[in-house]
Amino acid sequence: MAASELQARQNYIYLANCAQKHALFNLQAYFEAEADSEQEHYYKLRDFANDTGWELETSAVEEPDLEDESVKGILAYVEAFEVQLLKDYDRFYPKASPTTQAFLVKMLKIQTKGAGEAMDNVRLWETCNGIPALFDQNFKK
Ligand SMILES: [Fe+2]
Repeated sequence: MAASELQARQNYIYLANCAQKHALFNLQAYFEAEADSEQEHYYKLRDFANDTGWELETSAVEEPDLEDESVKGILAYVEAFEVQLLKDYDRFYPKASPTTQAFLVKMLKIQTKGAGEAMDNVRLWETCNGIPALFDQNFKK
């Protein structure tokens, strides 16, 4: 999961660049904030590892492999990796110790929200009828 959180951070940094290329500057800022959040998730895992007597590895991240860099493609890519990470946490939970499960409940709440937002954004794009400027307004701070 730690590797996936770091990969998600890397993905969002790249996706922010893609959003900038589409002139979706609010979406760009949203993705940049998401990248920061993913790093915080990694730190939560790191701190839990440290508190329970082990050290988290820092794995290499891969270049995001995005075949479709349209807005729809970007949003589908986010949905896919956020939902996959939720499934990974779900799968790991039953195998974990009670202490780890108590910690994982917090991570599952965070990841459920992340996956839910990603799915919402796919629907939001459809609701905006593919009008980039209209879609981007939804990410204004
Ligand atoms: Fe995360």
